[in-house]
Amino acid sequence: MTIIGNRPQFVKAAAVSRQLRRSAQELIVHTGQHYDDELSGVFFDELGVPAPDRELGAGSGTNTEQTARILAALEPMLRELRPDMALVYGDTNSTLAGTLAAAQAGIAVGHVEAGMRSFDRSMPEELNRVLCDHASDLLLCSTQTAMENLEAERAAGERHLVGDVMADVLLAFRGPARERSTALTDHGVDPGEFVLATAHRAGNVDDPQRLSRLVELLEAVPGAVVFPLHPRTRARLEEAGLLGRLQVADGMRLSAPLGYLDFIRLAGAARAVLTDSGGVQKEAYLLEVPCVTMRPNTEWVETVEAGWNVLVDLDSEAALAALERPRPPGPRPDLYGGGHAAERVCDLVAAYTERR
Ligand code: UD1
Ligand code: UDP
Repeated sequence: MTIIGNRPQFVKAAAVSRQLRRSAQELIVHTGQHYDDELSGVFFDELGVPAPDRELGAGSGTNTEQTARILAALEPMLRELRPDMALVYGDTNSTLAGTLAAAQAGIAVGHVEAGMRSFDRSMPEELNRVLCDHASDLLLCSTQTAMENLEAERAAGERHLVGDVMADVLLAFRGPARERSTALTDHGVDPGEFVLATAHRAGNVDDPQRLSRLVELLEAVPGAVVFPLHPRTRARLEEAGLLGRLQVADGMRLSAPLGYLDFIRLAGAARAVLTDSGGVQKEAYLLEVPCVTMRPNTEWVETVEAGWNVLVDLDSEAALAALERPRPPGPRPDLYGGGHAAERVCDLVAAYTERR
């Protein structure tokens, strides 16, 4: 049973579900954490994720409310369906609820993207990651660093380095995105001549002072900036009366959240990506586009070590300097498994469930 509920999880499941169905019977449960078509339906359509078998309709709320609603809805479903394994992805409230409900029901949990750490407990995602990893049976890691984090924490589950399933999706869809997407003309930008920005971390947008620094940083970026607004960010900008300022900022192109093909078309053609997203840092690396990360820390430390990602938090001067730096020389190491992570995930899930 694959339990997914928000944008990056639909992308991750796109890599795994297709493969999994060759050898197993998969049920997809959509928690309903993300429900707008722009954050949900479009990814099922574009990436060929099979339609959900069950929809929990959890909707929005505080972290605790949302997690509790998903947990309560999952419990009877797990009792009814008794899957051999629950497969969860990443670090969101849907991941935590899926892990906990399955573990409480005595169902094995496979955690894809296990072991990622920012070591910043103020992030809701960090708490989710730690709790999920310690309740999971099969820990499927994207990086060697994640393997070491789990070893240091003595996580009890079986650990494997599989690579990153998001990389599988990017490598499969970058070609079709170049062929099919009209995003460059839609947004009136030329390759290499614009910055693609995304922001939605609670730590950046929920605190009005931090949000105001984010707006100042974005206003300071010279040239064209394409900024698809996550609904959380749009809502906070409206509440703070800051949306109008961004709308009139020089070169700023605000838009609704983009579909995957349009987004990676833009990411691949941007002169740099400016983001606080986890997934987008990896995608920039894989697309050979310099990334500037508006956070004080990252789980994807290899991108920083390789010279393709710079952490600037919300410091405008540091961000501008990072955006102007020359591209790093030399070949980039293959950090994320070369597009074969989903195969390894499916083999390990099959082996684990056969053994039980
Ligand atoms: C969640 C995850 C975050 C992940 C992100 C991916 C948690 C704690 N956070 O953050 O780790 O990076 O998804 O995008 O699980 N909203 C809509 N329409 C929707 C969904 C949400 O308008 O379809 C608005 C609501 O006002 C909601 C807000 O966005 O309150 C935040 O949504 P939520 O799912 O709680 O968190 P994200 O910020 O999306
Ligand atoms: N993404 C997208 N459209 C957008 C912004 C992001 O398709 O407008 C994709 C992006 O390519 C990546 C995923 O959404 O695959 C990242 O999700 P998000 O930034 O919401 O979450 P995070 O990775 O930070 O948890």
